[in-house]
Amino acid sequence: KDRGELRIHESLDELRTDLADYIAELSEASVKERGFFAIALSGGSLISLMGKLCEAPYIKTVDWAKWYIFWADERVVAKSHADSNYKLTKDALLSKVPIVSSHVHSINDSISAEEAAREYEFVVRQLVKTRTISVSEINDCPKFDLILLGMGPDGHIASLFPNHSVLNEKDEWVTFVTNSPKPPPERITFTLPVINSASNVAIVVTGESKAEAVHMAMDDVGPECSKLPARMVQPTKGKVVWFLDKQAAAKLDSP
Ligand code: 6PG
Repeated sequence: KDRGELRIHESLDELRTDLADYIAELSEASVKERGFFAIALSGGSLISLMGKLCEAPYIKTVDWAKWYIFWADERVVAKSHADSNYKLTKDALLSKVPIVSSHVHSINDSISAEEAAREYEFVVRQLVKTRTISVSEINDCPKFDLILLGMGPDGHIASLFPNHSVLNEKDEWVTFVTNSPKPPPERITFTLPVINSASNVAIVVTGESKAEAVHMAMDDVGPECSKLPARMVQPTKGKVVWFLDKQAAAKLDSP
């Protein structure tokens, strides 16, 4: 089975440049093809690894006005809280590029998490209707131009953790998750049908603490690996690219 393209980098600096180039190229291709770039982000180390986008040449060459920004997952905290993925992204990235603020679709923090998940799904549904976000030919799911994911040492992606019932979700696009083993415990996340409908998914993973999970996600190590959330990222039509540093790639069978 094709588990996607592997890009293993000698240094974090090299990875950062390759990731910025990759995002800039997809943005250019999407804007050319359909006039918009619908991108979903996650939290964690991913955001600082995207940092080169705020610098030359990207700051000038990327068509920021065409970006529509979403979150593949968010922690249930106020948007001003240090744990908020929105705040992380705003401080590190969005405040430094000429993005259109009405194109930034953060998750509502002033209603209950259940309501916020439903509201976010509704927002996505409206933007699918206007084709600001594309639509999957197969299941009418949103087809994001790019979904960016990190991965935890346990193999979680977005807020989809191992053995959690939300991994079986077939109908909802956005859902509220409790008992996340990574704090904070309450989160809102895209479901696998949305992730697997994207045109492109990038999984950005660095550091030796994740080497075992990378091995489990990519290699055939036995039946238990099929339950690893990161291994369930298998877009029906889209493309997956893994951005790894040498440490995260260290346990791969054949890097
Ligand atoms: C979150 C994330 C989560 C993250 C991974 C990896 O909100 O916590 O979206 O899925 O991407 O846990 O995080 P690190 O790269 O910081 O280890």
